[in-house]
Amino acid sequence: MWGGRTGALLRAWGLWPAGVRGRRPLGCNAASLAGNNSPQCWNCGGPGVPKRGDGFFCPQCRALQPPDLTRDYFSLMDCNRAFAVDTAKLQNRYQQLQRLVHPDFFSQRSQTEKDFSEKHATLVNDAYKTLLAPLSRGLYLLKLHGVEIAEGTDYAVDQQFLMEIMEINEKLAEAQSEAAMKEIESIVRAKQKELSDNVSKAFEQDDFEKAKEILTKMRYFSNVEEKIKLKKIPL
Ligand SMILES: *[C@@H]1O[C@H](CO)[C@@H](O)[C@H](O)[C@H]1NC(C)=O
Ligand SMILES: [Zn+2]
Repeated sequence: MWGGRTGALLRAWGLWPAGVRGRRPLGCNAASLAGNNSPQCWNCGGPGVPKRGDGFFCPQCRALQPPDLTRDYFSLMDCNRAFAVDTAKLQNRYQQLQRLVHPDFFSQRSQTEKDFSEKHATLVNDAYKTLLAPLSRGLYLLKLHGVEIAEGTDYAVDQQFLMEIMEINEKLAEAQSEAAMKEIESIVRAKQKELSDNVSKAFEQDDFEKAKEILTKMRYFSNVEEKIKLKKIPL
C-alpha cells in the first residue's frame, strides 16, 4: 500500500463542488471521455494528450502527465455516477490504475514523473477507498450534487433514532463478553445494510435531502462501529 498523502485529495475536494450539480449519471465511457480540452505535454510540448487511454501518458514521448484534478472519482474509477457501484469492477479498475501509475514503476524516470506518479497514486488510492465504503461513497456523491453534511453538526435526526443509538451505545458500554459484542455488531451491521439499501433508493430518485438524512444515520452507526473496534483491541 502507498503512503497516505492527503494533500492532493484536499486540494481536489476544494476544487470540486462547482459545476457538477444536477448532472445526470454518465455511462462509463462517456464519463471517461468527458472533460477538459487536451493540455500540452509538459515534457515534449507535444499537442494534446488525448483522453483516450486515460490521458495519463503523452502519446509522443510517453511521459507521465500530471493528474487531472477536475476529474471526479467516479470518472477516474470508470464507474457510473450512482450510489450502486459494482465493487468487483471497482477493484479491477483500481488494480489496473495501480499498474499504470504506481511509484515503483517510475524509479528510473525523471523527478517530475516520480512526483506525478505519487500524486496519481494518492488520488487513485483515495478514489478507491472513498467509493468502496458505502458511507464515504454516499457522502461523496452527495457532495457532487452540491449537498454537504458539515462535520460535527448534529443534523436533525428524529428523537426515536437518537434513543436507538443511545441504547446501542449503552449496550456496548456494558458488554463484557465476546458474545455480547458479536450481538451488537450484528445489529449494527444489519442496520447499515438496511440504511445502505435505503440511501441507494433515495439517490435513484434524486432525493438528496432524504439521502442526507439517511447518510447522517449511517454516520452515527459508523461511529458505533469504530467504538466496537476500539473495544475489541484489548480482548
Ligand atoms: C428503510 O426504508 C423503509 C421504507 O421506507 C423504512 O420502513 C425503514 O425503516 C428504513 N430503514 C431504516 C434502518 O431506516
Ligand atoms: Zn510528450
